[in-house]
Amino acid sequence: MNIIKRVSQLRAAITGAKQAKKRVAFVPTMGNLHQGHLDLVKRAKLEGDFVVVSIYVNPLQFGENEDLSKYPRTEKQDARLLADLDVDMLFLPDEAAMYPGGDIGQQTMVDIPTLSGLYCGEQRPIHFRGVTTVVARLFNIVQPEVAIFGKKDYQQLFLIKKMVDDLAFPIEVAGVETAREESGLAMSSRNGYLTKAQIKKAATLRKVLVETADAIKESKTRSKTSVQKLTKQAFKDLEKAGFDPHYLHVLNRLTLLERQKEDKELVIIAAAQMGKARLIDNIEIDL
Ligand code: PAF
Repeated sequence: MNIIKRVSQLRAAITGAKQAKKRVAFVPTMGNLHQGHLDLVKRAKLEGDFVVVSIYVNPLQFGENEDLSKYPRTEKQDARLLADLDVDMLFLPDEAAMYPGGDIGQQTMVDIPTLSGLYCGEQRPIHFRGVTTVVARLFNIVQPEVAIFGKKDYQQLFLIKKMVDDLAFPIEVAGVETAREESGLAMSSRNGYLTKAQIKKAATLRKVLVETADAIKESKTRSKTSVQKLTKQAFKDLEKAGFDPHYLHVLNRLTLLERQKEDKELVIIAAAQMGKARLIDNIEIDL
């Protein structure tokens, strides 16, 4: 595996791969890799024949009081895991390579109106602007044919697909199912902030989503009020398990906006705080 830190080096290597008619598949990450990331890499290997993974903890997507400085950095271990999977290239840029302008406050931003400010964006107002900006820059640097993201970050995946459509990036975006612990807890680098007791309790998030999804499927009316009752109950169940729930919404998954009665393709998305970890999860529903 080739480990590259400079954009010019990466560009030269990608040009070589493209000249050799390789299809470049790209997995952007912030490192601290777990099974969920490795699933993305495995999918990338199916989708392309030259796999690039990036690790960059992007300051633009962290708010002032968030966990940027504490975010787990495990580069050596990550590099070993990726080499074991025969990844072709690991891109490890530093801040000067990612934001060469220096002052990141003056960086050109990619900002998707409305949807970036909803759900996770309500509590993390600059988060998605930071994500779409760094992903756009990474896309322009790596120029992959296909890019792979996890479905755990459902709103992120939706916004990246929208950005790719809106800005005509010639890139396919593929979403991969969430990797879970046996308990159902979605794998996440932030699970590392949880104590053993909290990890046990945190599995309730998945349980509540499954129960709410089942109740919606079984509901005869699926009226606005009956779904509201179910989401209220879900909130209570999360609180009982020790969560501080932030939101739980039943949405049309094609628009990521409030579901209408006749909608058939839905998703429930939720975020809740357990101790020091803000956890998110979702479940798709087909009616
Ligand atoms: O999902 C992540 O790890 C990050 O948000 C991403 C897509 C790598 C951008 O920094």
